Amino acid sequence: MSKKTLTLTDNSTDKQVELPVLNGTHGASVVDIGPMVRDLGYFTLDPGFKATASCHSSITYIDGDKGTLLYRGYPIEQLAKKSTFIEVAYLLLDGELPNKTELDSFQDIILSHTMINESLKKLFDGFHHDAHPMSIMVGVVGALSAFYHDSTDVNNSRHREIAAHRLIAKMPTIAAASYKHSVGQPFQYPKNSLSYCGNLLHMMFSTPCEKYEVDPVAEKALDLLFILHADHEQNASTSTVRLAGSSGANPFACISSGITALWGPAHGGANESALNMLNEIGDVSNIAKYIAKSKDKKDPFRLMGFGHRVYKNHDPRARVLRNMCHEVLKSNGNSNDPLFELALRLEEIALKDDYFIEKKLYPNVDFYSGIIYKALGIPSNMFTVMFAIARTVGWVAHWQEMIADPAMVIGRPRQLYRGAAQRDYVGLGQR
Ligand code: ACO
Repeated sequence: MSKKTLTLTDNSTDKQVELPVLNGTHGASVVDIGPMVRDLGYFTLDPGFKATASCHSSITYIDGDKGTLLYRGYPIEQLAKKSTFIEVAYLLLDGELPNKTELDSFQDIILSHTMINESLKKLFDGFHHDAHPMSIMVGVVGALSAFYHDSTDVNNSRHREIAAHRLIAKMPTIAAASYKHSVGQPFQYPKNSLSYCGNLLHMMFSTPCEKYEVDPVAEKALDLLFILHADHEQNASTSTVRLAGSSGANPFACISSGITALWGPAHGGANESALNMLNEIGDVSNIAKYIAKSKDKKDPFRLMGFGHRVYKNHDPRARVLRNMCHEVLKSNGNSNDPLFELALRLEEIALKDDYFIEKKLYPNVDFYSGIIYKALGIPSNMFTVMFAIARTVGWVAHWQEMIADPAMVIGRPRQLYRGAAQRDYVGLGQR
């Protein structure tokens, strides 16, 4: 059977090229524009990558119209119900679900890399006491390359594996230390007898003065949130990690660049912004005013936690979290939390509004994650940090996939130059 192609004709020269059409397992086919560049000399213009596939990948699939999310083929709803974050991490990195021996061994490896070098701890003291924990994360994760340079040869697959394990294992420790620094409390060492999320809670909330028991409801809720946040194909932060990694930069530097991209309110920073927005709205009686503001093109305000570049239907992660919100709030005696009531009402009103219907704007994962984090006692400036811990697994999986691909080349977009035409230098006295 002949391969499908698209024929492109340049009307100014009558030249034609055949562009190969490539099919994936699921989803839209893509057009390989290589022959267009080579034979016609044109580039494409696609700001924001709204129609451009930047790579091929076998990790995660999203169908934005149907509201489907698959990790290595498994629907997120099934993983949320039946799996654990550590198992999902193995799945994303390896491609297959682990058997019992593989899972135990992976868990042991991750839990035995949780400590950070003692000298690295001193870095935290250099940050101002009121530094945002995300700003500390960007610096400290990047600085890991100065401490663990025995695993930074990106061409060595064993080095890549060790770096991946170190990053996943040390993120909760660095995150908790960032938090402890911001509240002026002593750093708490990891306890490797605890689970991944139990350990994070212990390092964040225990102090040397009092006995601390991990709350199993909070531990389970965090684990679920981390499963939902673990990967989301070629989003802004993952694409940033890939772009940084394509130059051969070390994995710690690449993940630090991912944290930077995640921080913005249009991406992972939306969970903190969504909670701030609910606090600002304050009462159900103000919802109409804020919905009107979000529709006003002269007003920069947007309904935070609404809309998504890919989902033009319900975000499947938001659906899972909506149910979980009820459970968490009920279990800690806050089932009548006014903020949650307000969020539900806002969601109801927005989903019936013509503007939101027409533009297919649905609540995304960050609309609910902030409310759950708040109910778990996580301070709002740590919400995006939580997201970064979970997403490290996805970033590392994509980085590994890219580096192992023999066809990898440095990412280097082109541009449409609209600056001054070539001209001659004019001496200072003649200007
Ligand atoms: N409130 C009001 N209007 C919105 C919103 C919103 N939250 N989101 C999009 N729109 C409008 C835009 O103004 C635009 O209107 P127009 O066509 O009249 O110009 C239209 O919907 C399309 O929006 P774009 O910004 O072009 O869509 P894009 O795909 O570029 O942006 C984004 C997606 C950034 C997520 C956007 O919806 C947004 O800013 N949402 C709020 C922030 C947020 O919740 N981010 C988290 C995303 S999920 C994640 O990263 C984990």
